[in-house]
Amino acid sequence: MKQEIAIKVVSLNKHFGADDTLVDVIHDANFEVYKGELVALIAPSGAGKTTLLMMLGCVDAPSAGKIWLGEQKVYDNKWITKETRKIRREKIGFIFQAHYLIPFLNIMDNLILLPQTNKVNETEAKQKARELLQYFDIAEKEEAMPSQLSGGQNQRVAIARALMNNPEIILADEPTAALDMSRSTDVVMMLKKIAKEQNVAIIMVTHDDRMLQYCNRVMKIQDKKVVFETSNQ
Ligand SMILES: Nc1ncnc2c1ncn2[C@@H]1O[C@H](COP(=O)(O)OP(=O)(O)OP(=O)(O)O)[C@@H](O)[C@H]1O
Ligand SMILES: [Mg+2]
Repeated sequence: MKQEIAIKVVSLNKHFGADDTLVDVIHDANFEVYKGELVALIAPSGAGKTTLLMMLGCVDAPSAGKIWLGEQKVYDNKWITKETRKIRREKIGFIFQAHYLIPFLNIMDNLILLPQTNKVNETEAKQKARELLQYFDIAEKEEAMPSQLSGGQNQRVAIARALMNNPEIILADEPTAALDMSRSTDVVMMLKKIAKEQNVAIIMVTHDDRMLQYCNRVMKIQDKKVVFETSNQ
């Protein structure tokens, strides 16, 4: 089967500061991530996992190098387009360690908030939100407030929210850190299913080695280099 590229990175470098304050984080990274795969990203604290995700998500500019998202080259020693926000909105879904649902909006309103600011028709957005809540087995929570849901349920809503714009790429920064083992496994299995069924490329930062068995590949940042471990499937 031909693997379709979702993310391609060539000679990617990232440092912060200069001279005495220089922190070299990523040095000459070269890799590809394919549609339909769940890739774990592991490395010690401070090694640059969040920094890497932020570059791939067009949030932070690299110091040098090239990034393609799908067919589109987005960075070549500078942003190729001024519309990084548009690319982010259209192609990428983010999931964070804390779910960051808005506490004073109910579940439905949390889900349709971004589509609405992107001027998507409300009826369409609600329909999409209902499909996703169904898919995640929390359809009956549509009108509940985040405080009335468990941690795992809120994280499922956060995943649903990341899927509202049909992204090609999901970047998840420790999505299971606040969850117990069984909830973490649920969330990771769910991400794997989404990757496969919706042909989405997912990069998931994790500190939990028990989650690696569910991932297709394991990417590591080691001595500022990005390397891949054994492939499971
Ligand atoms: N805006 C910034 N300015 C200066 N240094 C930064 C900035 N953001 C990150 N760094 C530095 O870059 C390095 C990588 O940070 P990053 O947050 O990517 O690590 P991480 O692998 O995500 O760690 P953790 O597992 O703790 O979340 C750290 O040394 C950090 O201090
Ligand atoms: Mg981090």
